[in-house]
Amino acid sequence: MKLLTTSLSLSLRKYRTYLSSGSTWLQEMVWCIGNDLDFERAKTLQQFRTPLLELTALMDNDKGDWMNELGSSVELVEGMQSPRFIKSHLIWELLPAALDTVKPKVVYIARNPKDMCVSYYYYCTLVHNMKGSFEDFCELFLKGRVPLGPIWNHILGFWRRRHEPNILFLKYEDLKKDLEGVIRKTATFLGKTLTEPDVRKLSEHLSFKNMKKNPSVNLEPIMAKKNGPDFLQTTELSFLRKGEVGDWKNHMTPDMASQFDAWTEKNIRGTALTFD
Ligand code: A3P
Repeated sequence: MKLLTTSLSLSLRKYRTYLSSGSTWLQEMVWCIGNDLDFERAKTLQQFRTPLLELTALMDNDKGDWMNELGSSVELVEGMQSPRFIKSHLIWELLPAALDTVKPKVVYIARNPKDMCVSYYYYCTLVHNMKGSFEDFCELFLKGRVPLGPIWNHILGFWRRRHEPNILFLKYEDLKKDLEGVIRKTATFLGKTLTEPDVRKLSEHLSFKNMKKNPSVNLEPIMAKKNGPDFLQTTELSFLRKGEVGDWKNHMTPDMASQFDAWTEKNIRGTALTFD
């Protein structure tokens, strides 16, 4: 509790999301805008620039020497200088109540649940050495029985607050459609002015092609530390996998897609939330 209270200074910026929704992409965007496009400093591992607040807790059962190198995420956040840029996958209710009073800026990103599920399946296979089939994973995903839990209370917890002045709610599909437009919108939200050449430079930095080969935003260096360098040579998976909208069409049967649609429709009914 002490951590969460002390970490809520007025200059704090947070971005949140369920996993596999484009949080790493957003994380890089927010940090670069907040740090006046300092691409030199952006070469440092993301976890040191924009720590995932709960990383140490998530990794508790999985500690090894490689984790020691990352240090404690809590201490990292506590030791940061203002303004701090912090990532979290936690639901609104698990974040400090001071969020409602201190009102740090929060940028949230949501993604079409069918693509999220596909992306999260590959993430769990890569990071948690999960062995199950995609069909089984879909069933668990629909039941909210995947590592990060159910998605709807996560997404809707932020969606309901989207009109509050300290909340910016974004969608992965909008970044895909108009990255420069989202960069401008996010900069305005963060109180930063970007020139048009800046917007273009940042958009280039954030392109899938460039992010994929950027070791500071990729999980590959961490995976190599965790599983040994051979792992990367033997696995066909990568964290920045496809970066596309609609990859679910390559994975889901029509029946499965209908189940997802019905489930989504039921959960977003009356909320005004839509997905492409
Ligand atoms: P895919 O698995 O569909 O490729 P998160 O960071 O929240 O875990 O989300 C990971 C997803 O965001 C992955 O989706 C990843 O490829 C995608 N992503 C990351 N950077 C991206 C970029 N620059 N452009 C498009 N998608 C990106």
